[in-house]
Amino acid sequence: MAQKYDDKLLDHDADGIQEFDNNLPRWWLYGFYFTIAFAVVYMILYHITGTSPLSKQEYDEEMKLAAASAKNKPTKTVAVAPLNDAASLAAGKTIFDGNNNLCYTCHRNDGGGLVGPNLTDDFWIHGCDLKSIMINISTGFPDKGMLAYGSGAKLSDEQLLQVASYVISLHDTHPPDPKAIDPEREVKCEDHQEH
Ligand code: HEC
Repeated sequence: MAQKYDDKLLDHDADGIQEFDNNLPRWWLYGFYFTIAFAVVYMILYHITGTSPLSKQEYDEEMKLAAASAKNKPTKTVAVAPLNDAASLAAGKTIFDGNNNLCYTCHRNDGGGLVGPNLTDDFWIHGCDLKSIMINISTGFPDKGMLAYGSGAKLSDEQLLQVASYVISLHDTHPPDPKAIDPEREVKCEDHQEH
């Protein structure tokens, strides 16, 4: 080991740093040869024969696949009509009145409205059809204080449908002392059963 290098000093000096004229260490040389071989193989595969795809081609390929699968995917239909059987409406009421999603704290147990608008009348800001209601519950209106699913606690698709159906079932129940209509934003909407 000790005799491997003869440690002959070269006669130059950069700010006190001097240099031996030794052979390059073997591990370094092999690493260097490897990078040369790698570059050759890489160039052949990617640029000459085109056997392997460049990033741009990979990207285009993936975008094509995504576009094709988006086209073929059936649009997800959770349900087309509000549920109206007693068990589903009871499940919806449990969600509405429960502390997991907190709907009642802002809309009142009877839906008459408090912080949030009255959900029992014909006047709606964001649409009164089932689909709009489900979307609105799932996204919430965070800038107005309503988090996704009311409190941020996720509901399953089925629970979402149950609570939206329950909201629709409150229509025309005329709770006492409802929150006033906001004529600036709420518009008459009668199509409750539409989807
Ligand atoms: C922290 C208060 C709060 C909670 C909790 C809350 N909401 Fe709301 N909600 C609001 C407010 C405020 C709005 C009105 C948003 C706006 O002004 O655009 C609203 C709007 C809505 C709307 C749309 C009304 C319209 O006129 O278009 C629906 C439907 C609704 N909430 C249902 C629910 C349900 C169901 C829950 C429980 C899962 C819930 N909200 C929980 C405050 C709340």
